[in-house]
Amino acid sequence: MKTVRLGIIGLGNIGRFHAKTVMAGKVARCELKAVASRSPDARDEFPTLPFFQEPEALMRSGLVDAVLVATPHWQHPQIGMQAFAAGLHVMSEKPIAAHKADAERFIAAHQRHPELVFGGMFQFRAESHYQAMRQWLRNGSLGELVRVSWINTDWFRPDAYYASSEWRATWEGEGGGVLVNQCLHNLDMLQWLAGMPASVQGFCQLGRFHDIEVEDDVTAYLEWANGATGTFISSTGEVPGTNRLEISGTRGRLLWENGRLLATSNAVETTVLCRTTADAFAKPQAMTTELSFVPVESAHAILLQNFVNAILGSEPLLAPGAEGIHSIELANAILFSSLERQAVNLPLDGAAWESRLHELIRVSPKRARTIRSVPGDVAGSFRSQAR
Ligand SMILES: NC(=O)c1ccc[n+]([C@@H]2O[C@H](COP(=O)([O-])OP(=O)(O)OC[C@H]3O[C@@H](n4cnc5c(N)ncnc54)[C@H](O)[C@@H]3O)[C@@H](O)[C@H]2O)c1
Repeated sequence: MKTVRLGIIGLGNIGRFHAKTVMAGKVARCELKAVASRSPDARDEFPTLPFFQEPEALMRSGLVDAVLVATPHWQHPQIGMQAFAAGLHVMSEKPIAAHKADAERFIAAHQRHPELVFGGMFQFRAESHYQAMRQWLRNGSLGELVRVSWINTDWFRPDAYYASSEWRATWEGEGGGVLVNQCLHNLDMLQWLAGMPASVQGFCQLGRFHDIEVEDDVTAYLEWANGATGTFISSTGEVPGTNRLEISGTRGRLLWENGRLLATSNAVETTVLCRTTADAFAKPQAMTTELSFVPVESAHAILLQNFVNAILGSEPLLAPGAEGIHSIELANAILFSSLERQAVNLPLDGAAWESRLHELIRVSPKRARTIRSVPGDVAGSFRSQAR
């Protein structure tokens, strides 16, 4: 295979964005060959491409080697598993499933087809400042993890956003709110940088800022196995909002805020000085430098290129689909903990959350909502958050 023939399933905000990226030639050795969507206007937008209303018809067409699944969350594993059975490589939009148990089924289905590539659209992994932070952590410059603190409240969404698709902000349509949707990217980053915590305690408010049944305000307390602690705060109701990530270790600190990445190195590791100094008020000398990085033009295009390169055998995946389980597990656990009003140890019991979620769906008033297609700068929305 010299080029990957791609099909995109789901042509809403992000599916159309990906289609335009590929059609603009931004992904080498990749051709968009077909699309499938239930949006009636999508056919007119891509008049030169074979159009299917049902994913199965696209998969059976013989036109594609790989599919990018950009439908609402619940369908990612359903459609992805059908694609594996049809012998197609899969790139799933985030989250890879609406809840952990479905993510496990998706991953198990892929394990039965190890010859196929399974990627997840976790494009923050391609952002150069997060890569610089990961490098710093991995080479030991921070020492042992002490604390992670992320105020991540610049995901503001107006009511018009929630009214733009029927599935949004409902238990049945989305399986949660800001945790499974907007800040899922940040949860992926949190675990990609600091590893998975051992337990979480969530404090979520449902419909605090919007007339929705799921959470739009989150405060979580996290604990890692080594005793490190953390807080993660997010919402879709604040302006200006903040995106401040601070990771402290025994040898220093990383601080990301306002597009700047500051790294502080302690002259002596805190744990060493603590044990050895005779000075009752001694503190290690600390030196701060600004780390430089070149912002990427399109993290989504990098992830797609990486997926294509992985299929063609020239690159390992930056975001393997199986790693998508971590962010959805964190999202589910924070919400579950909040509803149960107690800490949840990880790994989360996926079956327990699945049955709780189905109960939430069963008792949901399922408010009928007027669906409006609202124009907006999708690309701008995630670009501003990543910076
Ligand atoms: N990676 C990112 O930056 C990013 C950004 C936005 C959205 N997303 C994710 O992408 C997914 C879609 O989000 P969106 O904002 O584009 O939603 P959307 O509602 O705008 O679009 C969803 C599309 O899927 C289509 N669809 C639904 N069921 C289908 C089916 N069975 N077969 C074919 N088409 C079907 C709909 O017709 C619609 O066109 C969500 O899971 C979301 O979390 C990711």
